[in-house]
Amino acid sequence: MAIELLPLPLPASADPALLADFGREVKGIDPANPTPEQFEEIKEALYRHGALLFRGAKVSPAAQYAFTKAFDPQSESYGHGNNKTGETKKSILHPDLKTIPSVPQVQLIGNGMVYNHEGLAEARLKHPSHTTFHKTVVSPEDEAKGVTRFYRWHIDAALYDLNPPKVTTLYGITVPDGPKQVVRYDDGTGDELEVPLGTTAFVSGKVMFDILPKDLKSLAVRSKVKYAPHPYVWMAPAHAMSTGLGIESEGLELPLDELPPWEESKLKILPVLWKNPVTGDLHFQVHPCGAKELIVEPLPEGADREGALYPDGAHITDLKLVRELLYKMQRPAIAPKLVYPHDWKEDDFVLFHNRGVLHTVVGAFKPDQVRAFHQCNLAASDEPSGPTPEDVKAFA
Ligand SMILES: [Fe+2]
Repeated sequence: MAIELLPLPLPASADPALLADFGREVKGIDPANPTPEQFEEIKEALYRHGALLFRGAKVSPAAQYAFTKAFDPQSESYGHGNNKTGETKKSILHPDLKTIPSVPQVQLIGNGMVYNHEGLAEARLKHPSHTTFHKTVVSPEDEAKGVTRFYRWHIDAALYDLNPPKVTTLYGITVPDGPKQVVRYDDGTGDELEVPLGTTAFVSGKVMFDILPKDLKSLAVRSKVKYAPHPYVWMAPAHAMSTGLGIESEGLELPLDELPPWEESKLKILPVLWKNPVTGDLHFQVHPCGAKELIVEPLPEGADREGALYPDGAHITDLKLVRELLYKMQRPAIAPKLVYPHDWKEDDFVLFHNRGVLHTVVGAFKPDQVRAFHQCNLAASDEPSGPTPEDVKAFA
């Protein structure tokens, strides 16, 4: 049976033209058991559309791991490496997720108490929430009225030592019902976005690049980001911006000599733009919270210097400036009309191109709202490819 691809239901807030290519629902394929031909079609569709949804799926942890691994057969360890980095307290990246004992590459995430689940007698899950991470919080009165925030716009990646996973799979097993919430950006723009309870919100990294003006496209195509050592430990004492798109510069990051041991050679220096292996498109893929420095190449020979930023190149180490530049380039793409907030149903199996989209947890649950998801992503066997010399010529 041929694969059938249907547009995802976009909310009224979305711009149908700019999101026309984003996301597809796949019919006619069981993601737990695709044929090799079907798998190739899924792969092609994923790189073209950024996210795929299979409804009514039945996917065991073993099948989810096998499916995720098939996108990068050489990959092995969980994308955040927490099976690998040992037990020291500071290296625990995600106290909120639990490993499935029989398939340790698959994590149980969600909210509330889960019992007798895949060999876990009891798991206390906590939905990561803006209430503990942002510099300013929504007042309890507004929270009660359904106002909420984006938690943290990100790519799934350790950003130290390990390579960013190619894909992430999310399987919604228990999805609580609840009223819609309203994301308030609280950044002076008045932007708001109505979202389903506990949505995962996505934006396209391709759109993020495409909508930039010429000077910022030129900066993006010439830039690399140097991430902090153990970025999640480094950023842990700091607070997020109200939009969840990066960290407020208050000097709260952990000093580098207080981090767990790290080596310069394991630091990640990654291009700002990552090249799509199927379409050749450039996707703006920066995890703003972990970014520490920007390395900008000079304009190529013959490029127009008029209005160009850093025409002679730069190594920007002023953290506040690094964040300001990234924010300027990334904020336009999280405008309400460019966000796809997925409305989770039980047995939804979602696959996303982790090197082509950014995503965030949204909202907050009450302790009795039980949610259980399986998540899998694997540190990739290679680094993402950046722009080609032709790309640099075209956009610098
Ligand atoms: Fe994630």
